[in-house]
Amino acid sequence: MKKIRIAIFASGNGTNAQRIIEYYAHHASIEVACVIYNRREAFVAQRAAALGVEAFYVNRAGFADQESVKALLHGQHIDYIILAGFLLQVPDYIINMYEARILNIHPSLLPRHGGLGMYGSRVHQSVLDSGDTKSGITIHLVDGQLDTGAIVFQAECPVLDGDTADTLADRVHELEHRHFPHVIEDYILSRP
Ligand code: GAR
Repeated sequence: MKKIRIAIFASGNGTNAQRIIEYYAHHASIEVACVIYNRREAFVAQRAAALGVEAFYVNRAGFADQESVKALLHGQHIDYIILAGFLLQVPDYIINMYEARILNIHPSLLPRHGGLGMYGSRVHQSVLDSGDTKSGITIHLVDGQLDTGAIVFQAECPVLDGDTADTLADRVHELEHRHFPHVIEDYILSRP
């Protein structure tokens, strides 16, 4: 049977992308077709290469070229898109092509600490500045706005006395690595 093919979009280090690639390396019905990254220096490209997954560089200008991106996604037979630390806003034409088939992970308990400028360590600093006593992860569908799509999954962790943005980020990353791969699977396989 033909496997369901996912494309991972990423901008940076790519630890989540790596976990997802490893999780689906021998999966019965889902496979990672490729990684698409938008920053030349993104380490995710090296992680993908080491794991034998094709990686395509598409920067902001590249995403504006609709026909090329559509050809890439069709050519790779992509069924679902997974945003794993992808810091560009997904263009509307892709959202329209993949309605309810794009998932994003955000490193806080949305709707808290989401929206414009909220990525990476800025999110964790915002949590610390707010005095929140818990943080966590949110996996949600991507709509045309930032961090507002329907929530599919959340998991919590405590904010501890003496936390810095880095220590909190480590705790949140651990939750991401533990949950993101299986939440993708649960979501995809539960759809008609
Ligand atoms: C992850 O913590 C992810 O939640 C966050 O970027 C990090 C990427 O880490 N995404 C956002 O902040 C999106 N607004 P990784 O490159 O090691 O997977």
